[in-house]
Amino acid sequence: MSTTRLKIAVQKSGRLLDDSLKLLKECGISIDNGKDQLKARARNFPVDILYLRNSDIPQYVQDGVADIGIIGQNTVVEKQKAIKEILPLGFSTCRLSIALPKDTEFSGPQDLNGKKIATSYPNSLRQYLDRHQISAEIHEISGSVEIAPNIGLADAICDLVSSGSTLFKNGLEEKDIILKSEAAIVAGEQLSTELQAILDKLLFRIKSVLAARS
Ligand code: PRP
Ligand code: MG
Repeated sequence: MSTTRLKIAVQKSGRLLDDSLKLLKECGISIDNGKDQLKARARNFPVDILYLRNSDIPQYVQDGVADIGIIGQNTVVEKQKAIKEILPLGFSTCRLSIALPKDTEFSGPQDLNGKKIATSYPNSLRQYLDRHQISAEIHEISGSVEIAPNIGLADAICDLVSSGSTLFKNGLEEKDIILKSEAAIVAGEQLSTELQAILDKLLFRIKSVLAARS
């Protein structure tokens, strides 16, 4: 009997985690989930779950530490690793957007010229600014980005928007959408034949679950 197991990286904590585990469960995969265990084994399917920091997952998948990952498309774009999207999953939809203090005039990207923009997505923001030939200062922070304009750290922000409630609570308004995102299965460039066979079985189950949902 083959001992090959497909290693799936999922978010250790955060908005994707619950929906990712729910999807696997609906695929009939039961995972022994010790709370502080960072690696868990499925009992009835040849997969292991690795609980990792979201922003580390693209690198781990590229390096083959994990065979596939469940992450947001926004993270795939931002991290620029040698990984490919296999299947969009339809949950954790959000946008990466430019937001400004409410009532600030914004007629287009050119209004960001000379401004300071706080973000956790410097690469995606850089691409957007370059695409529009805008010269602006990027101030990278790793979280609580919406606070930046209020404390005089930046004129604008570039961050994820889902319900819009964090923007609203911080007196900001979404002005321009840089990209739209949802959760997706990603994989490295090449899997062994055995791993690919497991992945194909898994994808078959996932597609059935997604089809039943829609
Ligand atoms: C995320 C994201 C936004 C917010 C968007 O932050 O960075 O701030 O959620 O969701 P909403 O539009 O539904 O309010 P998170 O809560 O994960 O915290 P962090 O940015 O400090 O990591
Ligand atoms: Mg946030």
